[in-house]
Amino acid sequence: MRLEQQSGDGGGRASWSGQFAFVLAAAASAIGLGNLWRFPYLAARYGGGVFIATYLALSLTLGVTLLITEIALGRRSRQSQLTAFRTLGYPRWGFLGVISTIIPMFILPYYNVIGGWVVKYFAAYAGMVFGGCSGLEDPQAFFDSFIAAPWDPFACMCVFTLVTCVVIVMGVKNGIEKSNMVMMPVLLFMAIGLAVYVAFLPGAGEGIRYYLVPDFSSCDNIGKVVLGAMGQMFYSLSLAMGIMITYGSYMRRCDSVPRAAVRIAVADTFVAVLSGFMIIPVVVLFAAKSGAGRAAIDAGPGLMFVTLPKVFASLGAAGPWLGLAFFVLVLFAAFTSAISMTEACVAAVCDFFRVGRNAAVAVICVWCVAVGSVSAFGYGRWSSFRPFGMPALDFFDSSMNVLTPVAALLICIFVGWAAGARTIVRELSASGPRFGAGRLYRFMVRWFAPLLLAAILASEVCRCLKIGGWSI
Ligand code: PHE
Repeated sequence: MRLEQQSGDGGGRASWSGQFAFVLAAAASAIGLGNLWRFPYLAARYGGGVFIATYLALSLTLGVTLLITEIALGRRSRQSQLTAFRTLGYPRWGFLGVISTIIPMFILPYYNVIGGWVVKYFAAYAGMVFGGCSGLEDPQAFFDSFIAAPWDPFACMCVFTLVTCVVIVMGVKNGIEKSNMVMMPVLLFMAIGLAVYVAFLPGAGEGIRYYLVPDFSSCDNIGKVVLGAMGQMFYSLSLAMGIMITYGSYMRRCDSVPRAAVRIAVADTFVAVLSGFMIIPVVVLFAAKSGAGRAAIDAGPGLMFVTLPKVFASLGAAGPWLGLAFFVLVLFAAFTSAISMTEACVAAVCDFFRVGRNAAVAVICVWCVAVGSVSAFGYGRWSSFRPFGMPALDFFDSSMNVLTPVAALLICIFVGWAAGARTIVRELSASGPRFGAGRLYRFMVRWFAPLLLAAILASEVCRCLKIGGWSI
């Protein structure tokens, strides 16, 4: 694949080799821990089919609108999020670039810590399958002693961060595109394979019904379901973190932004729904067998690192293999998402300080290790450091849950009211056929999206004042 230099189209900026590579990269960013772990447990908590239907409706309306907006901003400015708004001729909105850069800069370090946890579980299952090692017989004890260990979480985070940085150093085409070409098909086939395996387990029908059939009694408050689905959509589509702006800045003018946005949203939602098929039936089966009842399904964030390993342990000889397959899948999903966030940070450093890529990667790598160590040690040696009474990782997670809707809201206000939706509509029609849904887009970005975003923001602020997000 050739590195295309688009003269007259942003100077020597790298670009994707085509529409497919772009959609794959954006989908790889979107498909992550949010799809594999957060979506299934939210669906189980908020009434199965009701949540799934709400999520589908939101991601195909609000999600696609925001994706189109961010990608078009990036492609028009040919800059990463930090400098995009100024480059478009709105220096007063430069602060929005700063906010959209701060968000991934602070999410990335703790995302890498969780990535490190996944590395640890992957290694533990690989050890069980290939080396006959054990350790995961009591998953709760394993998890508790691992996150509180003096060095383990830090070392695993460093491994995860380094691998991500190596991919980024290799560049947009040779690094990001090529690694996606390997990891994404593996991820998809494994997810489909595991979902099919689970569907054939005796008694799986009960769990599939639990997942799909709308249960209106467990969603007494429909507002909560909508807000839950919206927050999830946001996180899952990697919105408001500058990622889609940066990735859009590498997009070729001849490719269609709306078509790409719809494909990204569909791919992301497909994998989210598929993970429910993979996870919910086994957890329901386990809950019935072990008498754990609804608590097993409602385990929230602990589902992936405690409940699922318990499920695998109960499956006999197949358990370690399934655990290994599952954590390979999660590892790839986490890597591709971390890669996109690292790229957004690196691109911002390159565009702002006008330094080379390698120098920017070195800066981001050091940053991640330094800031990430606060979260990595947060359950162990530095557990006495509890900002607002929560472990460091929970604190970062909660603050980001508030900052992301703020950034998205400001982006909508910028596009809808300051720069004008016409700027984006013109960019969408820059090549190929005219974008026919200009009016709809204008309505979405001026009214629909900001009102929904304001609602998420209000609910997040209320939630954060009371509880932390990640407590396991
Ligand atoms: N979208 C990713 C997921 O679903 C998470 C993510 C958030 C990735 C922000 C990059 C940036 O897990």
